Amino acid sequence: MSHSTPIKRAVAVAAAAVTALALGVPAAQATPPEPTLRSEAPRDLEIGSAVWGQRDLLDHDRKNPTEFQRILGAEFGSVTPENDMKWAEIHPEPDVYDFSGADAVIAFAKANRQEVRGHTLLWHSQNPDWVTEASNTWTCDEARDVLEDHVRTVVGRYAGEIYEWDVANEIFQDEWDAGGVRLRTEANPFLKACSADPVGLIGDVFRWAHEADPEALLFLNDYNAEGINAKTDAYYELAQELLADGAPLQGFGAQAHLSLQYGFDDSMRANFERFAALGLKVAVTEADVRMPLGDDGEPTTEQIALQADRYDRLLQACLDVAACTSFTVWGFDDGRSWVPGVFPEGYATIMTEGFEKKPAYFALLDGLTDATPGTSPRTPPGLNR
Ligand code: G3I
Repeated sequence: MSHSTPIKRAVAVAAAAVTALALGVPAAQATPPEPTLRSEAPRDLEIGSAVWGQRDLLDHDRKNPTEFQRILGAEFGSVTPENDMKWAEIHPEPDVYDFSGADAVIAFAKANRQEVRGHTLLWHSQNPDWVTEASNTWTCDEARDVLEDHVRTVVGRYAGEIYEWDVANEIFQDEWDAGGVRLRTEANPFLKACSADPVGLIGDVFRWAHEADPEALLFLNDYNAEGINAKTDAYYELAQELLADGAPLQGFGAQAHLSLQYGFDDSMRANFERFAALGLKVAVTEADVRMPLGDDGEPTTEQIALQADRYDRLLQACLDVAACTSFTVWGFDDGRSWVPGVFPEGYATIMTEGFEKKPAYFALLDGLTDATPGTSPRTPPGLNR
């Protein structure tokens, strides 16, 4: 299996030769470094992974990183705090912010020259009790004040350190929910308080975030948002409405939590293209591919191959659309995956619990290796590249 195009391989050999010369080693002995996802990625696409700073990074010793941390730094050009920037973690009490987990992710990213995707500012889940309780009595003005303070505080703290922010996460219900596809004006405490004009509030959240960090690209983000369906139709309409109102919406993210129990939606590329035609960036933000396992807890050979194919198709949909800025997996090893805690399924990531690379990993590596190098200088200046 070849993992490098001649050009990428030549660049790696040249870089190794320069390093060897600098070290006084004869160039002929220089061997190119092993390709990684980040080394093979086109220049205009970030390959990322989620990481839970509080669980996986705090107290880490930079000179003696765990194997998990070594792989995270070597394979990925971007990281997303899996939980550390959610309201319940970062703003546990009305006047208390806890930045420890998020700060750890930012510090790790800097040390490893990685970008950071911020996640998330407006979501119906993982809110602290004080928000959930207060939302029963909030007026819209009161909810707006709390939300504005949070957005300006959190986005402002990391201004210049974050290249993309999932500003609004999962704000639409699904077709199968009671009431069908519509804004979550019951489950989301802020949209509930401002249910008379939820779109006005959403636009303002984007405005506050943009004022706090003008460099970051600001995204809508959701699951079941890969292909063209009733939910993405609703997002497409919302995006047009927000843009018409002058809101600084800049991206649409498809989480891509897939299961082998369902088919792959081949309209993903067309879906990304229609958002790109609005002038938005698009991204795959939380990719994983889970599957039901047998009594022995192991996948079949067919499932392993099908999983690799699904990761490949997700990546290709992103590579096919020039506006696709980042491809993020929601954790890279099964030992840390959120999936078994929620579904009777598993084997969702690209490496086993023991960090063995699965065919899915090599599908991504090969897809990136074969990709045409991009030319657009997408990354905003001043970040960690
Ligand atoms: O709240 C406690 C915290 O106080 C404690 O320190 C910690 C110790 O284990 O547990 C905390 O709760 C956990 C929480 O994450 C942390 O915010 C929950 O047990 C855990 O179940 C929870 O799960 C996360 C889930 O979002 C809910 O926030 C998953 O790790 C995370 O992978 C998942 O990620 C979401 C994306 O944000 C949005 N898209 C879907 C995706 C998968 O559900």
